[in-house]
Amino acid sequence: MHAVAIVAAAGSGSRLGADRPKALVPLAGRPLVVWAVEGLLAGGVAEVVVTVPAAEREAFAAVLPAAVRMVDGGATRTASVRAGLAAVPDADAVLVHDAARPLTPPEVVARVLAALEGGAEAVVPVLPVVDTTVLVDDDGAVVEAVPRAPLRRVQTPQGFDRATLVAAYAALPEGAELTDDAAVVRAAGIRVETVAGDERSAKITVPHDLTLAELAVGLDGTVPR
Ligand code: C5P
Repeated sequence: MHAVAIVAAAGSGSRLGADRPKALVPLAGRPLVVWAVEGLLAGGVAEVVVTVPAAEREAFAAVLPAAVRMVDGGATRTASVRAGLAAVPDADAVLVHDAARPLTPPEVVARVLAALEGGAEAVVPVLPVVDTTVLVDDDGAVVEAVPRAPLRRVQTPQGFDRATLVAAYAALPEGAELTDDAAVVRAAGIRVETVAGDERSAKITVPHDLTLAELAVGLDGTVPR
């Protein structure tokens, strides 16, 4: 199985308050996207393609390993992934990952790859919901508690049979924006399987997330992998 990873890294980082694209923000001195790429390669993908903001190609080229290909991303994550998919016609399997999850352990990548090897058409890493979870009305008052046992938080990398993901994106109406790629294949009626995610795959969105990641890397001076 020839597995290629597409790293979505064309976002702006505005919620992080950064002066550069989020993927280039340093974590322990190295850009988030570099951490993400290394985790994917360590987990067993053969090749990585990174979707980058078109105006930032040089800045990404300066930090990414030479073997990593870059493609121009789009205005939305969905558009960026479409561009990445068009650049990997020879892959059997595709893992779509967020640069914003820099500390994803290689073991998670390996679990996603193993599920694809085992015949899954689509697979996502998930974690349980540990807090009581409720529905609220428009005024913020609790309406009812949601049974949390069957709920899961969905992470990346999300793995797909490439042809299945390409067909699902082709069937998605132009302009439709879904928050992840599993939602795209589910919209096409494909079964999405799950494997165990990892708290270390947490997404970096606001400054506090970066503080936590710095602590995770720095506590014992080694990468938490
Ligand atoms: O904004 P958010 O954190 O949800 O973005 C998730 C991932 O999608 C990030 O790694 C970001 O760089 C990427 N993205 C992208 N193209 C966009 C917007 C976001 O590749 N136009």
